[in-house]
Amino acid sequence: MKILGFESSCDETGVAVVCTEQGLLAHALHSQIAMHEAYGGVVPELASRDHIQRVLPLTREVLGKAGLTLNDIDAIAYTAGPGLAGALLVGASVAQSVAWALQLPAIPVHHLEGHLLSPLLAEPRPPFPFVALLVSGGHTQLMKVERVGSYELLGETLDDAAGEAFDKSAKLMGLGYPGGPALSRLAEEGDASRFDLPRPMLHSRDLDFSFSGLKTAVLTRLNQLRKDSAGALEAQDRADLAAATEAAIVDVLAAKSIKAMQQTSLKHLVVAGGVGANRHLRERLQAAMQGLGGKVYFPPLQLCTDNGAMIAFAAAQRVLAGLEDLKGSHHAFTVKPRWDLQEVSVAR
Ligand code: KG4
Ligand code: ZN
Repeated sequence: MKILGFESSCDETGVAVVCTEQGLLAHALHSQIAMHEAYGGVVPELASRDHIQRVLPLTREVLGKAGLTLNDIDAIAYTAGPGLAGALLVGASVAQSVAWALQLPAIPVHHLEGHLLSPLLAEPRPPFPFVALLVSGGHTQLMKVERVGSYELLGETLDDAAGEAFDKSAKLMGLGYPGGPALSRLAEEGDASRFDLPRPMLHSRDLDFSFSGLKTAVLTRLNQLRKDSAGALEAQDRADLAAATEAAIVDVLAAKSIKAMQQTSLKHLVVAGGVGANRHLRERLQAAMQGLGGKVYFPPLQLCTDNGAMIAFAAAQRVLAGLEDLKGSHHAFTVKPRWDLQEVSVAR
């Protein structure tokens, strides 16, 4: 069965075809980063308009790459939430229209389920059950995943997400948008030990996170540095502060992930979401899991951030698990800008 999937929850338009038997056949992506850069963050209305312009050319590109036509497609998948309401509506309405025109079932997909299952697109595949660390621009969660469709929340951020902590700190340092990749690039030249930044909730017994205090600490250090240098910040100051910020975020994410492995006695950790592209986080978790006699799994690097492949793939996994009613599909739809992943979890 071939599934055409659409992702449009934020600032990437992604389209892909996944086959339930053969896996990912093709995907195409347009990132709006350059468009939003001038504003220092995503402008929702601009995002929606750009999705409208990109979605059909990307669909043609994907079908071309896969050597398929719309007549070869058996089902349509799309991100139904969480995300920006207007942006989600573009993908949802295009997907439902295509499904209606071709008389195909349409499968609404939870964006985080897409991220969470995306490590299964790489080899070796993580075996179930596993713990998933979901670290994106909007979410930071630890989940226990028994199987496709069974997600138990172990802990989450009480305020800012890890990606948000990267982005907001980077913005304070004048690094532009999105801040995560820029900050981690700059951190390569810095000395993380120069600034002692807080690691909120590092020793709390639970598996929750808190990152909002970090940006305040970064701002305080920046103000002090500016005062000391009469306004002009040295390149090394910024690099050292970037390295210290990255180290603080990575320390907390690693410590809580290890705690989750110990509490669940599971051996496999899956990391997904944009922050999963961070090299230090990858290296730290690899070493930590080796120490625990387990293993950590990541999505292919280009599929860490938002993309259509993970949405079509999540739909395919749900179909294979018997979780989708493909006959009862109707084409009235809604999107859910806020949506708890556990709502798509089924108890068995
Ligand atoms: O999953 P994603 O593409 O979008 C959401 O669903 O939010 O994640 C985007 C987030 C942004 O906050 C971005 O700064 C962060 O992932 N990010 C990184 C890196 N690459 C992307 N953070 C740290 N290091 C990176 N290399
Ligand atoms: Zn995402």
